Amino acid sequence: MPKFDIRIEDTDEHYPCTDTRSLLEGMESLGRRGIPVGCRNGGCGVCKVQIKVGSYTSRVMSRAHVSVEDEQQGRVLACRVRPASDISLAVIGKMKKSVCAVTATAAAETKAHF
Ligand code: FES
Repeated sequence: MPKFDIRIEDTDEHYPCTDTRSLLEGMESLGRRGIPVGCRNGGCGVCKVQIKVGSYTSRVMSRAHVSVEDEQQGRVLACRVRPASDISLAVIGKMKKSVCAVTATAAAETKAHF
């Protein structure tokens, strides 16, 4: 099964994701704090991302969280999307604060050690 490279633009992190897993599942395998695990079912909207580069397949997403315009612009729910190529994405919505905050803290801690 093909495995793709997913890049989180906000933090410049990469993770592998096969075409059988959702972008959220792949992201969770990074195993760090800040990855919000919501309903995993397209209902809570916490995992919203913007696909910047790459192709993907998506399953039905709640219009409460993803408008037609969102979908056309590549703004999707990571738990409902599987990669079909390497992908570069930006974290948006509720997830942004936590994902980026943890990285900022980690960077500060790294600096403190040097
Ligand atoms: S985890 Fe709830 S919409 Fe994705």
